[in-house]
Amino acid sequence: GAPVTADITALQEGERLVLEWRGQPIWIVKRSKAILEALPTLDSHLRDPMSENPEQQPAYVLEQDPELRSIKPEVSVLVGLCTHLGCSPEMKAEIRPEPFDPEWKGGYFCPCHKSRFDMAGRVFEGVPAPTNLVVPPHYYENDTTIVIG
Ligand code: FES
Repeated sequence: GAPVTADITALQEGERLVLEWRGQPIWIVKRSKAILEALPTLDSHLRDPMSENPEQQPAYVLEQDPELRSIKPEVSVLVGLCTHLGCSPEMKAEIRPEPFDPEWKGGYFCPCHKSRFDMAGRVFEGVPAPTNLVVPPHYYENDTTIVIG
């Protein structure tokens, strides 16, 4: 499939832009500072916190910070399909107050079999999904234009 271009000029913190590339949903999510700060605190609950499975993302998204899995810290780009059986997870970006769930700092929840991912698409331990969500190949054409593919 041809590359797809996204203009993220209007994307606000906590918002998600959804596009389609090669028949798959692509999410572009603007993460808040609070979300970015929460991500490293989750590592001990995750199956692959440093994204060591090379099939789940291009290497260049790990260069800055493997816990963020993105070229720019605040902008996360993911394939919106659960790595278990391909359902589309729901985004729950809000940081929920303890003690509702002390390990949940916002992320993606798959309603099909309850897999949980954080706001970097990293999978939690103890859920059916075996791997982190996929980060598709992408690059910045300019500050506000992302090309997927
Ligand atoms: Fe997402 Fe099974 S398809 S948990």
